Amino acid sequence: MARSLPLRDAFFMPPSPDAIELRAFTHGLMPRTVPAMMAHFADDWRQRGVDAWNEIPNHWRPASEDRVGWWTLPEYLAEEFITPLLGAPPDTCILQPNVHWTMQCLLSAPDVWARGRRVVLTEAEFPSVMHSLRRWQDVFDLDLHVVPLTEHQRVDADRVLDAITPETGLVVLSHVGFTTGEKLPDATLRAVADATHAANGLFVVDGYHSAGSVPIRVSKVDADVYMGGLLKEACGSSGNAFVYLRPGLDLSPRMAGWFGDADPFGFAQDPADHPDVRRRFMGGTTAVASMYHAVEGVRLLLDVGLDAVRTHSLRLTERALARADDIGVRVQSPRAPERRSAMVILEVPAADRLCAYLKTQHIYTDSRKKQFLRMAPFVWNTAEEVDRAFDAIGDALRDGNYRSMPPETATAAGPVT
Ligand SMILES: Cc1ncc(COP(=O)(O)O)c(C=O)c1O
Repeated sequence: MARSLPLRDAFFMPPSPDAIELRAFTHGLMPRTVPAMMAHFADDWRQRGVDAWNEIPNHWRPASEDRVGWWTLPEYLAEEFITPLLGAPPDTCILQPNVHWTMQCLLSAPDVWARGRRVVLTEAEFPSVMHSLRRWQDVFDLDLHVVPLTEHQRVDADRVLDAITPETGLVVLSHVGFTTGEKLPDATLRAVADATHAANGLFVVDGYHSAGSVPIRVSKVDADVYMGGLLKEACGSSGNAFVYLRPGLDLSPRMAGWFGDADPFGFAQDPADHPDVRRRFMGGTTAVASMYHAVEGVRLLLDVGLDAVRTHSLRLTERALARADDIGVRVQSPRAPERRSAMVILEVPAADRLCAYLKTQHIYTDSRKKQFLRMAPFVWNTAEEVDRAFDAIGDALRDGNYRSMPPETATAAGPVT
């Protein structure tokens, strides 16, 4: 069925008719196809048992003749859904359980460090990147160079470029900063890629908040590794992430498990690298159930097209910025369209309590450090919903009553990433 934006009929809307879900950057609404997909998982398991590893009906592409089994789903789903999401060439992507795993695998490959021990990243990297590097730092004697953000919480591209020396083996940047909402333009990524490659290093992009919200061409960005997750803007749930590996990139991760072995059922004493480098990013037995819902959100986004998704998202964030100005709230995330992601970050007093108050009004946002209110109006939202959310924020800030929300309520807003 041809769909158009906003994609309201493709998702289960929150139960209350006046609810406004603005948390696409963390864990958004469930695509309507998910319950049937999960029922397929239960049926496949019930009816086929262990044989499902070899073959199951192709629930993802029922009209195709492609044969799938639990064993091959990580490559198959990546080929069908992640490759177009990233504008990547064939045979370059594979599903992963999370970004942490991808990073651990990558960092465990001595081939990376043969290129140089210096690592360049910015303060804006997510802990799955930052902490992983810190944990491997003394094992491989890494020289981590963390480039600070500017006073306005932006990536300083010149400082990143200056930090790349001939000893640099790895550069890691977030395509969209998870706390800043800043999207790095392709030209910036490309310049960093060029400098990294001139040093014979690897350029890794964490595209957690870009995949699904902006059209991506990995070749334009010239990343060697592009990784991300399928919850958040990719409209899925937990347990699913992905990695793209540039064609010809040869790595031998020490973390590779038996699912990534060249001869997994040989059960040999010694491990052997799988000939397909993507497969070397597999660990132990795959978590199968989560793959049934992995790409249902991506399917919707690809169906309407990432250009249309981006246009809709820019229209909604533009409206949010205008409304923030109307009510006199400072915007912390970028305003320029080429630097804007799906996220809008507002600086407000007692943001945690405002977030909790808005929840009582069925308006779902998120707060950080009691100072920032975060929202991402996305594919299911309308401009009218953005207006209603800002009406409520404006009223709340004016009368200030939200500030007396009991702290338990504010705490009950709970952690979201
Ligand atoms: C930029 C970025 N990278 C990675 C992650 C998640 O990492 P993991 O898949 O290891 O949980 C997040 C989650 O919010 C993120 O924002």
